[in-house]
Amino acid sequence: MQVGKVDLGRGLVLAPMEAVTDLSFRTVCEEQGASITFTEFLSAEALTRGAEKAVSRMWPSYENRAFVVQIFGREPGSLAAAARMAEVAGASIVDINMGCPAKKVVSGMCGSALMREPELAATLVKSVRDALSAHIPVTVKHRLGWDECSINAPEFSLRMVDAGAAMITVHGRTRSQGFSGEAQLEPIAEVRHRLPKEIPLLGNGDVKTVEDYKRMKAATGCDGVMIGRGSRGNPWLFRSLLALEEGKVDPGEPTLEERRNVWRRHADLVQKNSPPRMVLHELRKTLAWYSRGIHGGANLRQLAFARPTPASLVELGETFFAKLAELGHDIHSLPVDPTQRSLERHGRRNGEIVEAQEICLS
Ligand SMILES: Cc1cc2nc3c(=O)[nH]c(=O)nc-3n(C[C@H](O)[C@H](O)[C@H](O)COP(=O)(O)O)c2cc1C
Repeated sequence: MQVGKVDLGRGLVLAPMEAVTDLSFRTVCEEQGASITFTEFLSAEALTRGAEKAVSRMWPSYENRAFVVQIFGREPGSLAAAARMAEVAGASIVDINMGCPAKKVVSGMCGSALMREPELAATLVKSVRDALSAHIPVTVKHRLGWDECSINAPEFSLRMVDAGAAMITVHGRTRSQGFSGEAQLEPIAEVRHRLPKEIPLLGNGDVKTVEDYKRMKAATGCDGVMIGRGSRGNPWLFRSLLALEEGKVDPGEPTLEERRNVWRRHADLVQKNSPPRMVLHELRKTLAWYSRGIHGGANLRQLAFARPTPASLVELGETFFAKLAELGHDIHSLPVDPTQRSLERHGRRNGEIVEAQEICLS
């Protein structure tokens, strides 16, 4: 799959996710087979003000791999300036967010609010297109429309393409849906039907398994698939999908050793890349992600709260995986007893460490 001159391989794309798709997680996904990754959305206003938090998030991928910087705003001049900053930072593609449903974004008439103002949205695309060098494509990610009564994704995407967009991503929900209900696939199919053939379309929404992926492709005819929540703690989804696309055998679930190695890789990247004040939080997140559904995971997550340094968190993770290896049987946990879960939640709220009766790490 190509967007302009940028190669998107098999079109297996990691979605932009605020506070999730930092360089560390993007790298892990790329190493498991993601064709390209997006930064989280960055405010054009913040970028052009030089806000360190936004500027530092335009991290280029390692090894010169192509990556996408996503920006949002509603002022053509600042979007154009932000796009130029993304180009200087090395972005291969600049994407404009027209799908975010969050109050803090739509109250400023940005994100999905732009779907109610297609002419302004087209002006934004054009100003970003004009600001960038010709070899850097501009793309747009949007939803189905504002609400069920105003689904306009097919006309909207066409208008964005007329204004200069070289690829469209559609998340199959309206703004009113937020993240509730199920992603609708028929309107995405309608977008594919209406767009010129040479404009690639990414289908997005609720792809968490190989079966979901097959359904998205078959039902919409999309050229590639963007995956968000389904990749958190499961970057191996990309390797399964890559195997499928290449006609190879699905490697399936990771072995314990693979799981430990990817966790450790992620943890090492976090220590290298995350701002110092975020390292403990991000390391705890890696432990939570890679132990979800695994024997002893609940205990691990609780103990992690009490570990005060990066080294002690890494040591806790290593002990967890070493003890799992000693178990020598199925590492998946039994379905959680609702009473136990409620006790654990209650304990966490009160700042207590609840002893889970799974594997002993302490
Ligand atoms: C925590 C979180 C943060 C997100 N941040 C962004 C963002 O910065 N930009 C964006 O376009 N979409 C963002 N999204 C939406 C996702 O990119 C994606 O469209 C949505 O989650 C549906 O795909 P999924 O079902 O595969 O997760 C975010 C979603 C989540 C869950």
